[in-house]
Amino acid sequence: MRAALLRRPHVPVEIEQVDLDHPGPGEVRVGMVAAGVCRSDLHRLSGHTIVKTLPFILGHEGAGIVEQVGEGVSSLSPGDHVVMSLTAQCGRCRNCTAGRPNLCEWHALGTGRMPDGTRRFSQDGEPVFADLAAFSEETVVAESYLVKVRDDVPLEKACLVGCGVMTGIGAVVNRAKVEPGATTVVVGCGGVGLNVVQGCSLASASKIIAVDNVDAKLELAESVGATHLVNSAKVDALTEIDRLTGGGADYSFEVVGVAETLRLAFSATRPGGTAVMVGLPAQEAEISVPGRALFFDRTLMGTFYGAARPRQDFEWILDMYMEGRLKLDELATNLRPLEELNEAFEDMELGRAARTVLTF
Ligand code: APR
Ligand code: ZN
Ligand code: ZN
Repeated sequence: MRAALLRRPHVPVEIEQVDLDHPGPGEVRVGMVAAGVCRSDLHRLSGHTIVKTLPFILGHEGAGIVEQVGEGVSSLSPGDHVVMSLTAQCGRCRNCTAGRPNLCEWHALGTGRMPDGTRRFSQDGEPVFADLAAFSEETVVAESYLVKVRDDVPLEKACLVGCGVMTGIGAVVNRAKVEPGATTVVVGCGGVGLNVVQGCSLASASKIIAVDNVDAKLELAESVGATHLVNSAKVDALTEIDRLTGGGADYSFEVVGVAETLRLAFSATRPGGTAVMVGLPAQEAEISVPGRALFFDRTLMGTFYGAARPRQDFEWILDMYMEGRLKLDELATNLRPLEELNEAFEDMELGRAARTVLTF
């Protein structure tokens, strides 16, 4: 079968033939139907995230259909529609039992291997590493990384919930817990940021100020609920936010992953406000904020995967989409075949699409 292999950073990804073993105990083989191309995939290609296990099959925002289940798998059967979760949700570790499965201690992503330390992909007998391997025609993952979803949702929409939508909406409703009437700022309106905007809208924030340096992204932000648009390449964003909020926002979200925009987001809060870092900083990045500003009851908060509880959250998010109360169609603006992954990365770098979804 074909899969997108990262061989070295900075070298365009090739679609290559790979071999896949049968699912072991507690594992599931999935036929991929659709997979969103996320900035975190591009981070691995650009070296922003260092991948030590090469060659590595990219892709983590995936949806597909269960083909085969390994011994002991009880929650899934062949034919089930599934969306991949970024974290395991083992249900037994301290964090899972404390209601924080996004921090599941059994979690193995980033190691390039299955949770038991072995691999399922190879090429001519040589190792091929993978996490979820969403950019592969088929993949094998542990059962606890898969969430069964209603089968009337188109999978090229549902896949987005696996990373960008969950991360964005979850940052607002699960992590920051924005309350109705709050004023909010979202810095960076890409695939994830648009969902932070959407989350602020679901939370009934009174002002949702979208900040980006690309006008087309701001227009998308408006289509998913932003009330004010600020192009930070054209105007001084802080002055504008200060004017719109009368002294700073209750909540701000950084959704780019760089120190400069985090500082902007932090400085955009009022005394007592909360700045949430949603973007993934570079591997060795250090973050600094003005100490005097932090002193005045501000909170600087990290969030991984929108504090997701995948089995609960995917369900209500998809239900709300099917009822027309949450937008996914506006996000999946671009469909491409797997072969066009490099073009999809280009879409992202040039700001050509909210999200490109690869189809199989
Ligand atoms: N100022 C304002 N906006 C910026 C700036 C900047 N200096 N630099 C980039 N942007 C905007 C881009 O125009 C784009 O709209 O930030 C957005 C980034 O969006 P994407 O490239 O689509 O990335 P996305 O998938 O949304 O991920 C954003 O969240 O989960 C993390 O790893 C992910 O760090 C990444 C971040
Ligand atoms: Zn992602
Ligand atoms: Zn766990």
